[in-house]
Amino acid sequence: MSKRFDFLVVGSGIAGLSYALKVADHGSVCIISKTSLDETNTRYAQGGIAAVTYQPDTIEKHLADTLSAGDGLCKPEIVEIVVKEGPGQITELVNWGTLFDKQPNGLFDLAKEGGHSEHRVLHHKDNTGYEIQMSLSKKVREHKNITILEKYFGIDLITQHQLGEDIQGKQDDIECYGIYALNIRNNQIETILAKTTFIATGGAGNIYQTTTNPPIATGDGLAMVYRAKGEIENMEFIQFHPTALYNPKERPSFLITEALRGFGAILKTSQGKEFMHKYDKRESLAPRDIVARAIDHEMKARGDDFVYLDATHLEEKNLKEHFPNIAKKCIELGIDISKDRIPVVPAAHYICGGIKVDTEGHSSIAHLYSAGESASTGLHGANRLASNSLLEAVVFSDRAAKDAIKSISSLEFMEGIPDWDDEGTSHPEEMILITQNLKELQQIMSNYVGIVRSNLRLKRAMDRLEIIYRETEDLYKKSTVSLQLCELRNAINVAYLIIKMASKRKESRGLHYTIDYPWKHIE
Ligand code: FAD
Ligand code: SIN
Repeated sequence: MSKRFDFLVVGSGIAGLSYALKVADHGSVCIISKTSLDETNTRYAQGGIAAVTYQPDTIEKHLADTLSAGDGLCKPEIVEIVVKEGPGQITELVNWGTLFDKQPNGLFDLAKEGGHSEHRVLHHKDNTGYEIQMSLSKKVREHKNITILEKYFGIDLITQHQLGEDIQGKQDDIECYGIYALNIRNNQIETILAKTTFIATGGAGNIYQTTTNPPIATGDGLAMVYRAKGEIENMEFIQFHPTALYNPKERPSFLITEALRGFGAILKTSQGKEFMHKYDKRESLAPRDIVARAIDHEMKARGDDFVYLDATHLEEKNLKEHFPNIAKKCIELGIDISKDRIPVVPAAHYICGGIKVDTEGHSSIAHLYSAGESASTGLHGANRLASNSLLEAVVFSDRAAKDAIKSISSLEFMEGIPDWDDEGTSHPEEMILITQNLKELQQIMSNYVGIVRSNLRLKRAMDRLEIIYRETEDLYKKSTVSLQLCELRNAINVAYLIIKMASKRKESRGLHYTIDYPWKHIE
C-alpha cells in the first residue's frame, strides 16, 4: 500500500518547513524527516540571517559583499533575487512567530560577520536557528493539511530509472513520482507517491572527521538525485568554518559564531600574537575561506592543534548577554569567555554546491524541486558569505512553492509503481563493515580533500574511495536496507562528486585551494 500526497517534502529544516507552510493551503502535504522534526542543521545555526533592513545598509552593498565572497563564481542575477526578496521573507518568518533581537528603540539589533561591509545579520541571541526551527515546527504541527512522518528515511527517488527503464541520454525526460522511504520504527520500506517532490535534506558535513554539522547531515538528497541522474554542480566548494571550539572528544564540534568576531573578538596564535593582518586587511573579519586557510597555515607552521579566539578585552556583561549559549558551553569546559581565550579550529561546515536548480528552485528532473543547503542556486559561487544560507533557503523555498502551486492542479499521481524489491537480501552480519568504512571515508576527505588540496592528494583520495565504494555497493546489494548502510552509501556518492569536481577545477578559487595553482581573488 502506498501513501499519496500532492506535495512531498523531504527534510524538516528551514527550507522544508517554510516550503510546506506555503504549499499547504493548496493540497495535501507530507514532510518526512529521518530523525525528529526538530533535529536539523537549522536548529544549530547561531549567528543569524543576513538581510538588508535599515540605512546605511543597502541592497547594493549586500549584493557586492556576496559577489566578492563568491570569488567570481556567483550568478549575479541570483544574488540580486535573494538580496532583494530577502527582506520580504524575513517578514514572513516574523509573521510565523520567529523573534529576532531588537534594540531598546525597537529596531532590529543587527550583527556583523566576516565579509559583510555592514551590520546586517538578524539574530536571536546566539541561537537563531533554534528560534527559527521551533517557530516553524509549531506552525507546521498546527496545519491540518500537513502530515508529519518522523523517523522516515528517504532511500531513493522514484523515477523511471528506479523502475528499471533505460532513458540514457534523455535527461530532460526524467520524472520524479515520489520516494521509497524506510520507516525506521518498523524497518518497513514504504512507497510515498507525490505529484511534486521537494528535496530539503541539507548538507553533508559528516563526510569529514571534524564538522559542525549534526549526524543527520550525510548528503542523502544530493546522493539520491545523483543516482536518479539529476544534475549536481559546484561540489568542490566545501566551506570550513574557521572557529569551531577545540574539544577533540566532541562530535559534532560546537560552533563559536563568527558574530563573536563581529562583536570584537580577535584571532591569536598559541603565543597570544595576532596574525590575521598578514592575510587580509579585514583581519579577523575577512571572508571564511581566507580566515580558515590562515588558521590552517598558522597551526601547521607552529605544529599547534588550535589557535585562540580572544574576547577577554570585551565588556563582560554585554558579551555574556549577546552570547549566552557560547558562554554556557565554554564554562562547562572550564573556559570563562570573559577571562580565558577560547581554543578554536576550522571544521567542515557547509556545502556550497548541490542539486542544480533554476530560478524557481526546479531541478533537472521533472516535478522535483530543491532549496536550502541541498540545492545549488548560484548564490554562493566559490564561497558562501556568512549568514546567507538561511536567507537563500527561505527565498528559494518561497519561489519553489509558488512554482509548484501553479502546476499542481494539472498533475496526476503515477500509477503502477511497484513496491520496493528486497528479494535475496539478508541482514549484514557485522556492523563494523559499515562503521569502519565511514571512518575511512572521513579520514580520506579530511586528509586529502580539506582546506588545502593538491592534484596528488585528490588522486590518492579517489583511489582510496574506489575501494570503499566497491565494498559498500557489494554489501548494499546483498543486505536488507538499513539507515546506517544507506547513509554510508550516500556519503560515498557525495565524496565522489566532491573529489571529481575538485579534480576538474584547474585553479585555486574561493574554497577550492590547491597548492598546484596560485590563488587569485576575483571581485
Ligand atoms: P537542514 O536544516 O539541515 O534540514 C535537513 C533535514 O533533512 C533534516 O530534517 C533531516 O532529518 C532531513 N533529512 C536528511 N536526509 C534525509 C533523508 N534521507 N530522509 C528524510 N529526511 C532527511 N547559516 C546561516 O545562514 N546563518 C547561521 O548563523 C548559520 N549557523 C550555522 C551553525 C551551525 C552549527 C551549522 C551546522 C550551520 C549553520 N548555518 C548557518 C548553515 C545553515 O544552518 C544551514 O545551511 C541550513 O540550516 C540548512 O537548512 P536546510 O533546511 O537546507 O537543511
Ligand atoms: C556563524 O554563526 O558563524 C555561522 C554563520 C553561517 O554559517 O552562516
